[in-house]
Amino acid sequence: MDVAVDVGTWPAVWLRDNCPCPQCRVPGSGQKLFQITDLPEDLVVSGVEESAATVTVIFGPDGHRSTFERAWLADHGLPGDDAAGVNGSAESAGVTGATGTVGVPGAADFRTEDGKRLWAGPDAPLPIGDWERYQADRGHRAETLGAVLTGGFALLRGVPAEPGLVATVAGTFGYVRETNYGRVFDVRVEATPANLASTGLALSPHTDNPYRDPVPTVQLLHCHASAARGGDTLLVDGFAAAAALRAEDPESFAVLTSIPVPFGYRDRDSELRAHQPLIELSADGRIRGIRFNNRSLQALRRTPRQVAAFYRAYRRWAARLAEPELALSLRLAAGDCLIFDNTRVLHGRTAFTGTGQRLLQGCYADLDGLASTLAILEDTDKERV
Ligand code: OGA
Ligand code: ZN
Ligand code: ZN
Repeated sequence: MDVAVDVGTWPAVWLRDNCPCPQCRVPGSGQKLFQITDLPEDLVVSGVEESAATVTVIFGPDGHRSTFERAWLADHGLPGDDAAGVNGSAESAGVTGATGTVGVPGAADFRTEDGKRLWAGPDAPLPIGDWERYQADRGHRAETLGAVLTGGFALLRGVPAEPGLVATVAGTFGYVRETNYGRVFDVRVEATPANLASTGLALSPHTDNPYRDPVPTVQLLHCHASAARGGDTLLVDGFAAAAALRAEDPESFAVLTSIPVPFGYRDRDSELRAHQPLIELSADGRIRGIRFNNRSLQALRRTPRQVAAFYRAYRRWAARLAEPELALSLRLAAGDCLIFDNTRVLHGRTAFTGTGQRLLQGCYADLDGLASTLAILEDTDKERV
């Protein structure tokens, strides 16, 4: 493939740091064998040799030769210095909808709003997987997992209502994140509930376990039995809601992204605490995480002025997240297993009646494992060690 590339568009140190030669990297794994401090500080490109498929760069002052595939260089172009967000400049970290690294191929952090498909209420995609097919068919598995990364959730149907099977589902794409609630936990009405979840009361849309750091980034809820009436599941795209808040109420957005708040959970055996803002931004200023749970928010210790500003913004944010138009309503039936991004999609339920019958089993896992499994499913020909 003869792809035109101009090595002058990459700083010499960048080219050298990415040299693929076997002296610089372990073949196969690609792990680097040198420290940045091992490279000459006064590196220059002293010559270029071109062939149809490759470009060889010769460096001064040490004469090292790096041969790059043209296609690789073409894939790894840098944005211009005037592109939004690349300098980590004030504009990119701002509150008015900066574009961050959008448009830079491969540069976007898959966890941020960039590259996601944002949705509101009934516009939500409703990706439905089938457990039998999911296990047998790589393509179907990739589609289902891809939906969790782009849309924030997927529903798997036909997962037998067997104890602990939710952990088996998690194991198909990652590792169960065991917590003080166990590997798997039950959500059912209890006689002496320690948690609102163990009653028949409604739960407003929330994210789980904001009092952990790191927070579990994937949650699974597997329905074993539904309620006679009520107990419907609500999902809200927190990234879409946060993006709308940024556009319509930048002042609240700035407060919610900059004031860390304490979340906590305690019982006889646990004392968990984490301090994070309700809306977390990446270093590029892009929306990257939502923590929202009125039940576990603890006393904020800031100046009175900051406290007042926080409560004003928090109230507006809570009102927005509770807007019925934002929520997708689903009714989980026995055998349905919902997999969702707990850093993005808020979940809740309507109140229900009929004590003792409704049973969900849940567990936590993480997005890095899910993204890795998806990448392997989608990658059929890369060399791997
Ligand atoms: C929970 C929860 C949802 C439900 O237990 O944290 O959100 O539908 N449960 O019961
Ligand atoms: Zn090298
Ligand atoms: Zn929950």
